Amino acid sequence: MPALVLLGAQWGDEGKGKATDLLGGSVDYVVRYQGGNNAGHTVVVGDQKYALHLLPSGILSPGCTPVIGNGVVVDPAVLLSELSGLNERGVDTSKLLVSGNAHLITPYHTTLDKVGERFLGKRKIGTTGRGIGPTYADKINRVGIRVQDLYDESILTQKVEAALDFKNQILAKLYNRRAIVPAQIVEELLGYAEQIKPFVADTTLILNNAIDEGKVVLFEGGQGTLLDVDHGTYPFVTSSNPTSGGACTGAGVGPTKINRVIGILKAYTTRVGAGPFPTELFDEDGEKLRTIGGERGVTTGRDRRCGWFDAVIARYATRVNGLTDFFLTKLDVLTGWEQIPVCVAYEIDGKRVEELPYSQTDFHHAKPVYEMLPGWSEDISKAKTFADLPKNAQAYVKALEEMSGAPISAIGVGPGRDETIEINSFL
Ligand code: GDP
Ligand code: IMO
Ligand code: MG
Repeated sequence: MPALVLLGAQWGDEGKGKATDLLGGSVDYVVRYQGGNNAGHTVVVGDQKYALHLLPSGILSPGCTPVIGNGVVVDPAVLLSELSGLNERGVDTSKLLVSGNAHLITPYHTTLDKVGERFLGKRKIGTTGRGIGPTYADKINRVGIRVQDLYDESILTQKVEAALDFKNQILAKLYNRRAIVPAQIVEELLGYAEQIKPFVADTTLILNNAIDEGKVVLFEGGQGTLLDVDHGTYPFVTSSNPTSGGACTGAGVGPTKINRVIGILKAYTTRVGAGPFPTELFDEDGEKLRTIGGERGVTTGRDRRCGWFDAVIARYATRVNGLTDFFLTKLDVLTGWEQIPVCVAYEIDGKRVEELPYSQTDFHHAKPVYEMLPGWSEDISKAKTFADLPKNAQAYVKALEEMSGAPISAIGVGPGRDETIEINSFL
């Protein structure tokens, strides 16, 4: 089983960090392939809690080589502070590899993200303000700065000047902000260069060789399927491809090399930022999910919007990612409800619809059609096998599996590494 992708099947925060960390002990490489420090992955190891943003969650497993692939956008200041934060806690980060082709988030990207959102007013996306969109825009527009540019001062200077020529006009004339001096950006970036240099590598070569040698490589997605710029709820999405295809472009590995795609699926649904969310709750059930589930953003501290499980979305995630398995997380949070509604289809303008509509207008009009499943009240956090779960919890899992189109191979019953029921091995 040389290469697996692990990704979010909903709108992010499904528990990817925990799932990656769980597998980290048995894999040789964990690779981030898209996104940047907009991600917030919580990993709980014993009594220690880690919040990772840019670094792959595999960094906490000693035998595992963490890799930042070419598809990631890297804020060098965040990279260095995340590394030193882990070093202070005794985590060895020396094995990290960073693609020389990854694009850099600079201070002007972060500024443009923030002022751009302010300019949009009530039409804003609710981004994390980390400069993600403007950095990917520059990449596609061919005016981006890459990690490798840190090692050629003349090229770096030319590229920063070219990028700022245009951006300074926008900053000054549209946003009424002071122009950014290119030399200051160059100086700041060069200040990071030597510290980052030991990690910079030809990561596609290393990863392809590793797969050919039978090593186990895990590609860890940030965000989630519905935040994908192509397949998500555009324009309320992030600016990259968290879906499984993104692992190929974002790490330089061909699709024929990937044999398993695991969707991380929360037993209910959450979303941060703006955009449609058919099963969103505005009542005390929503508040209860938020409180019991600890649904507060790891990156921005915003309360997450909460709602019931949406099987239409899960089926869609199976389809666009070619999922082979699901890892169902946070089942324990649902303990205590007498009945649990599950969205099995939508009603759109009076018609029942089983699949996610491709039209944004239709999706905005989608109303959930609920089926009620019986709940359970027993504490399930100590369950080690599927048989340990109360009958109604078992039935809830089985119903979700049937509706979602792929087997549920693991179940999370708590945030810790060991609070997991393994049904089928991922490796
Ligand atoms: P990610 O962005 O997908 O890695 O997810 P986050 O870390 O942002 O949010 C998931 C939260 O749920 C974190 O606080 C995890 O520690 C926690 N978590 C993960 N799996 C479980 C689970 O099975 N049960 C409970 N109660 N918490 C979990
Ligand atoms: P993890 O990896 C949840 C959301 C933002 C916003 C939209 C665009 O922890 O699951 P961006 O800053 O990416 O341009 O913001 O995407 N978003 C996330 N929501 N979890 C995340 O990451 C997210 N990363 C971005 O809230 O709606
Ligand atoms: Mg998160």
